[in-house]
Parts: sequence; structure tokens; C-alpha cells
Amino acid sequence: MAGYISNDNRKVTTHRLIEMKQRGEKISMLTSYDYTTAQIVDQAGIDVILVGDSASNVMAGNVTTLPMTLEQMIYHGKSVVRGVKRALVVVDMPFGSYQGNELEGLSSAIRIMKESHADALKMEGGEEIIDTVKRIISAGIPVMGHLGLMPQSINRYGTYTVRAKDESEANKLIQDAHLLEEAGCFGIVLEKIPASLAARVAKEVSIPIIGIGAGGGVDGQVLVVTDMLGMTNGFSPRFLRRYANLNEVMTQAIGRYIEDVKSCDFPNEKEQY
Ligand code: KIV
Repeated sequence: MAGYISNDNRKVTTHRLIEMKQRGEKISMLTSYDYTTAQIVDQAGIDVILVGDSASNVMAGNVTTLPMTLEQMIYHGKSVVRGVKRALVVVDMPFGSYQGNELEGLSSAIRIMKESHADALKMEGGEEIIDTVKRIISAGIPVMGHLGLMPQSINRYGTYTVRAKDESEANKLIQDAHLLEEAGCFGIVLEKIPASLAARVAKEVSIPIIGIGAGGGVDGQVLVVTDMLGMTNGFSPRFLRRYANLNEVMTQAIGRYIEDVKSCDFPNEKEQY
């Protein structure tokens, strides 16, 4: 079976991601939400695993990421960390756990790190949350920023369309990226923005820029694992490349199992005690 072969088994650190950017090596990142998937994703050689609050959509069936709680993110974070040996594990801070004030953000961040044993956190926003980002980093917690389409703000946007197409939003995004870099973030996710803008940000800042729907001119790519494996149906944004059709594979396998149970083919004599 063809796959990615790497002979570098060292644990990925935030420092190593910055070195990868410096030598022009692209960074691979995928989400995971559970132990079994995280183990497979890690063994395949991924650099970064994001315990995304997209768990709200693809694990819990919610329409937005907003319902996700701190406890739920800690649960998913813990499950993923147990399955991972090499990748850097980043946990999303959920909506409502850091927007209030710096101290609230810091105590949420400390809880996630203490209880999940993750390596780092990701937070959506720029200038509005910069003091909280600084406070969390000053406690020794690595933070990844997230700009462009920020799903936790979906009720303000009213649509999941491409962001920063106009000059003022693009300028704010560039300023925010610089602020996050100055605050000490080790990387930034840019979601669903024009490729030329994302490439400009990746050139201007020294920290890795990871894109999702942000073109190829950035330092790495992230996708939602259930989307790229073709488990989810009915979500086909232009940026999504499907590498498998697990929906079909699983439906067929389950169908065969049902047939075998109904026809008394399963279990056979060798499959019993
Ligand atoms: O929650 C998530 O999965 C994310 C990615 C889309 C970057 O934030």
C-alpha cells in the first residue's frame, strides 16, 4: 500500500515547525477527535493533529461549532493524545472559553493543558483577543492563531463564504497576523481567504501559516479528517480534496454484515467458542 514514508520519528515540536518553514518543508495537519483515528493519522506520519472544535459538526452533528464546551474539548483532547506518539497535538479553545477576559482565557487554557496533556492550543481572532493570547503564552502555553473565516463567529458573518475579499478586511487580517506573531504565536491557521492574500501573509511573517481553503502559497495545509476520508456527505467546498470514499466502504461493509447476520452466515463455527 502506497503511503508517506518518513524516517524522522522525533516528536514534532512548535520549534521544529518553525524550522520546517525556514527550510521550505511543507507542514501537514489534519484534525482528529478520537483515540483510534488519531493513532492512524499519527502512524501515517502527519506533523500536526488538530483536535478541532469541528468535532461539534462531525462528531456531535451540530450545525455550528458554538455548542462545544470546555469539558467536551478536554475529552476529545485526552482521547487523541493517548493515540499519538509523534505529531504535535493542538486543541481548539471552544467558543465562550476565552472571549470574556484574559483571566477566564488563561484558566480555560490551563484546564485544557493540565487535563488533556495536549502540546498547544488554537484560538480564533486577532486584535480583539490579543491580550488573552499574550497572557496564555506568558504562562508557557504555545498558541496557534486562526484568522480569515472563523467558524466561532458564524453568527456575525451569517455565511460561510470566502473572507477578506475586500481591502479593509484583508488589511485587518494582515495586521492581525503580525500582532499574533509579535504576541509569540507559533503558527496561524488561515481559513477560506483568497490565495494571494494568504501567500502574502506567509511571506511577511516568520511563523508557519497553515491554510484551509487558502491556496498553495502557504507553509502547510489542514483538512478535517472525516471530510478528506470521504466519511461526511453533502459537504463539498472547492478546497476539499477527498482521498477516500469511506462512506461507501463503511456502508458496504455494514450492509454485508447485516446480510450475514440475517442469513445466519455469521458467526460460523470458527467464530464461536
Ligand atoms: O475546528 C477545526 O477543524 C478547524 C480547522 C477547520 C482548521 O479549526
